[in-house]
Amino acid sequence: MTMQSLMARSPVIPVVRIETASRAPALARALLAGGVSVIEVTLRTAAALEAVAAIARDVPDMAVGAGTVTAPDQVQQAQDAGARFLVSPGYADAVNAAAERAALPLLPGVATATELMRAQADGFKQLKFFPAVPSGGIAALEAFAGPFPALRFCPTGGVHSGNYLDFLQLANVPCVGGSWLTPVETIESGDWAHIE
Ligand code: 3PG
Repeated sequence: MTMQSLMARSPVIPVVRIETASRAPALARALLAGGVSVIEVTLRTAAALEAVAAIARDVPDMAVGAGTVTAPDQVQQAQDAGARFLVSPGYADAVNAAAERAALPLLPGVATATELMRAQADGFKQLKFFPAVPSGGIAALEAFAGPFPALRFCPTGGVHSGNYLDFLQLANVPCVGGSWLTPVETIESGDWAHIE
């Protein structure tokens, strides 16, 4: 699986913070039932790696990735858990190198033209634009399209049900990411119908 095919698989990538790993397979099934077949589990909770493993084991149709990868040792942990891709909020050579060694697709985060130039020079074509809304939102993505016509973005950070369709109108935005699909309290209450 490539980052390009992952981004084509779902126009919305839910960014999930999960506190209880045993809830992860039901969450993944609800998202699948709702038409979303990619999930990013952020490595921000003690349960995150176990949640990745549970989804990889129990819901094979869901492409599960690990997000908030900020240090190279998290790459191996995510791969061991069964993550099929990685997302980082920023652009770090050590994380990029670890992902390359692991042969896992990585969506690194960028927010400035200088970071876009570095990423492009390193061979990345798919990037997370983070934090999207505070970094200029749609106007910034339109401005990036001029000097960087080959780059594609997954804007994340401040994207929600009220603005995601506007982002998806852009030619350089095949998908968006965000936490609005999977509120922590909805996961904890097990309201899978709401998630779906
Ligand atoms: C992320 O890690 O991508 C963000 O926390 C998601 O941002 P959001 O909560 O504004 O969707």
